[in-house]
Amino acid sequence: MPAPKRPFRGPGKQPDRFSKPGHKPQPKPGSKPTAAKSQDRGWDRVAAWYDKLVGSSGSDYHRNVILPATLRLLGKLDGLSAIDVCCGQGVLIEPLLKAGVAHYVGVDASPRLIQSAKQRHAQNRRVTLLTADVCHEGPWNAQPHDVAACLMAVHDVPDAAAMFRNIRKALKPGGKALFVLMHPCFRIPQHSHWGWDNDQKVQFRRIDRYHSSPVIPITTHPGKQDDSSTAFHHRTLADLITGLGQAGLAVTGCEELYTHRRSQAGGPFSKAEHRAAEEIPVFMALLAEALPR
Ligand SMILES: C[S@@+](CC[C@H](N)C(=O)[O-])C[C@H]1O[C@@H](n2cnc3c(N)ncnc32)[C@H](O)[C@@H]1O
Repeated sequence: MPAPKRPFRGPGKQPDRFSKPGHKPQPKPGSKPTAAKSQDRGWDRVAAWYDKLVGSSGSDYHRNVILPATLRLLGKLDGLSAIDVCCGQGVLIEPLLKAGVAHYVGVDASPRLIQSAKQRHAQNRRVTLLTADVCHEGPWNAQPHDVAACLMAVHDVPDAAAMFRNIRKALKPGGKALFVLMHPCFRIPQHSHWGWDNDQKVQFRRIDRYHSSPVIPITTHPGKQDDSSTAFHHRTLADLITGLGQAGLAVTGCEELYTHRRSQAGGPFSKAEHRAAEEIPVFMALLAEALPR
């Protein structure tokens, strides 16, 4: 087989968080994350961009991978009370309401994202939307719920251990908590990459850094004047599972989630790209049960 003629990219567009095809937020070497400067407002500076990216029905990763896995793992929701931690602009609201949730509470640090969620759902009496920092206790976690979900945000909060404890408090004993996050072993922005082994004709995943827990700035509009960025807090799998256990959340399930995207390019890379897409997961879902206090 001839040597590859185009730069090697890996199986389709892969998310540093998740992105529209053709747009990938980029880590910006040396830049300071915007979110680190104003953690209390979460993603407020990039709220308009995020709201547009996710829209009413979710990014393509939400629609094809994240939301189906969330509903599958949470199971029967009819008549239950649910809290959506780091709800953003409310992508999970409609799926949960359709699944029969009796009362939905969404909480996020960004007032603008909460405002977007309210514009879509505030009329619904089953929906309550709150602005709060989930690393701190508050009225948001004072009432216990049957289920909690936290989608694509474990790596966005500065203190995951505190968030886990606060989620535990927001659950009834035996309640379920579901976390869907970037796969902590394979997706470490700036420190994991696709590579091509021309001898074996195999696409491989290269991991440069895993054990230390870097805070990685992700620019929202790479190459543009607007230098807004968010902070990605990488954490090892051991730290995540230990943090959950110490918070009183016992892991009962784990699913590794694979991209639905496939390269349309054809040619020498396609077979290897498809294989890699089926072998290397992009997201991880962790299901936990709230232990009695
Ligand atoms: C990638 S977005 C995910 C939003 C939503 N769950 C989704 O799947 O579209 C991460 C969210 O975490 C929120 N966030 C980050 N730190 C937070 C904190 N300390 N307290 C509450 N929300 C926070 C951000 O404001 C942002 O909405």
